[in-house]
Amino acid sequence: MKKLLITGGAGFIGSHVVRLFVNKYPDCLIVNLDKLTYAGNLANLKDVENKPNYEFVKGDIVDGDFILKLFEQHRFDGVIHLAAESHVDRSISNPTEFVFTNVIGTVNLLNAARAIWKGNTKDKLFYHVSTDEVYGSLGNEGMFTETTAYDPHSPYSASKASSDHFVRAYHDTFGLPVVISNCSNNYGSFQFPEKLIPLFINNIKNNKPLPVYGKGENVRDWLWVEDHARAIDVIFHKGTKGETYNIGGHNEWKNIDLIKVLCTIMDRKLGRKEGTSEKLITYVTDRAGHDLRYAIDSGKLQKELGWVPSLQFEEGIEKTIEWYLENEEWLKQVTSGKYQKYYENMYKNR
Ligand code: NAD
Ligand code: TYD
Repeated sequence: MKKLLITGGAGFIGSHVVRLFVNKYPDCLIVNLDKLTYAGNLANLKDVENKPNYEFVKGDIVDGDFILKLFEQHRFDGVIHLAAESHVDRSISNPTEFVFTNVIGTVNLLNAARAIWKGNTKDKLFYHVSTDEVYGSLGNEGMFTETTAYDPHSPYSASKASSDHFVRAYHDTFGLPVVISNCSNNYGSFQFPEKLIPLFINNIKNNKPLPVYGKGENVRDWLWVEDHARAIDVIFHKGTKGETYNIGGHNEWKNIDLIKVLCTIMDRKLGRKEGTSEKLITYVTDRAGHDLRYAIDSGKLQKELGWVPSLQFEEGIEKTIEWYLENEEWLKQVTSGKYQKYYENMYKNR
């Protein structure tokens, strides 16, 4: 039986990747390694937790000795590395945490893979999951391609850029078989409600203000999370070692336009009079170093590996809103306790 390590599998994207791989590859043991930070939740994986080809390990990728032992014990054939601190606003409040997890944690995993695979790298792969934010910010024109120069602005994107460089360095210096993908903003079920879409759905539901940073003119390129997971599957199995693939759905939205769509759909679903939720929109102080626009050119992935997004945004956002409305218990559970404190701190001076 092949053994695959997925890190960060209890988080938003990781849980979708774990679910896809556990169900699609019953002959492969999927080991999910996660520290279960505020963003990691085993409730995200209830439907696969009893499958015979699934195992959960609680642990911290920053602990190099522990990681090496885990690799020695399991002798993984492949790694899909998603564990990270992932929220830009938190990286502004506490940059150092991002260096530990995103940079040191990644290097620990690279060291462990190198130590157990040694020269024997046939059929082995270290897949590093990254973000389009490493490319920096676009003006009104153009798109990020795989050759766009890195230009990160937030501590989050700087830490992800650094980890990407280490992954490439281990390929070039030590011949480690690696592949990297850089994806645009994801949306869908199981996303922690600190990111724009689930936060605003939750706030609209609870009649709380919708804190729009600056004028709401920043543009993000949104991809349905299950399409990201499918892209990871395609790249893991068909991608060329040493290569980078951009993933995105050609789906750009100005924040304020997207927020108005959320308000309209929520009014309809909650049986509120049209225009009710838009009244919650509150313009607040802009995020420091706020990137103006992200847009991904995923032509390489589409042409070379045949991946295309399966869902149009209109359908995806309806499904997503429905999911958050139907999963009130999940929302309650993840937004209790520490979440309340985080929320008060993050927005008190805005
Ligand atoms: P997330 O914050 O929802 O989940 C991160 C997971 O990593 C959590 O389960 C958390 O418990 C775990 N984790 C954090 N620190 C850890 C540590 N030290 N050791 C072990 N586990 C740890 O993040 P996400 O949105 O699912 O993002 C997953 C990956 O995809 C990240 O690498 C992120 O940079 C990348 N990415 C995210 C997006 C997006 O829109 N969310 C877009 C492109 C790329
Ligand atoms: P976010 O979901 O944090 O993703 P990222 O910063 O990684 O792109 O934010 C998406 C956009 O929404 C970004 O331009 C910042 C903006 N935003 C707000 O206007 N208000 C908010 O409360 C949040 C969390 C984000």
